[in-house]
Amino acid sequence: MDKRCWLPVCVILLMELQVSSQEIVGFTRGKVILPCRYNAMPTKEVNIFWRYKDDRNVYNIVSGKADLADQDRQFRDRTRIFPEEWANGNFSLLLTDLKDSDSGSYSCFIPTVNFIHQVKLFVQEKPTPEPEVGPKSSSVSIRGQNLSPFLFLLLSPTLHFL
Ligand SMILES: *[C@@H]1O[C@H](CO)[C@@H](O)[C@H](O)[C@H]1NC(C)=O
Repeated sequence: MDKRCWLPVCVILLMELQVSSQEIVGFTRGKVILPCRYNAMPTKEVNIFWRYKDDRNVYNIVSGKADLADQDRQFRDRTRIFPEEWANGNFSLLLTDLKDSDSGSYSCFIPTVNFIHQVKLFVQEKPTPEPEVGPKSSSVSIRGQNLSPFLFLLLSPTLHFL
């Protein structure tokens, strides 16, 4: 909490905070986009604070500029933002070379509009494709194809009446 903040004002600010959240799944060694979108964004003076587990600095955008001075070492050289998307209110963050330890809650805080978007990231081992999956799905499609003559047989008695 900001120490300069006079308590009654802080309470009002907290009450007006807009919070939204979602869950995202990523795979180890892969990459993932952590979404953060705010439509009615004043385009000047963009200030965005991406945080991990509330206090670890993932990315700062200060007055419309990337500020990585205080970025946590955990995320070094693994983040990317998309300035060309800011005009659309899109402050999504790309996280690359995912590790198990990246799992957890991320938040995108936009102080000028009291908005927080929380993204819960689950990093999983990429499932290895099972050999049975191929034949299984093709047998399903064969069954689907065999349905059409059957449907025709069902319709033919009706056709005789016409
Ligand atoms: C936001 O920008 C990212 C990066 O360009 C893109 O992948 C994503 O689809 C955008 N999100 C929306 C909702 O437009």
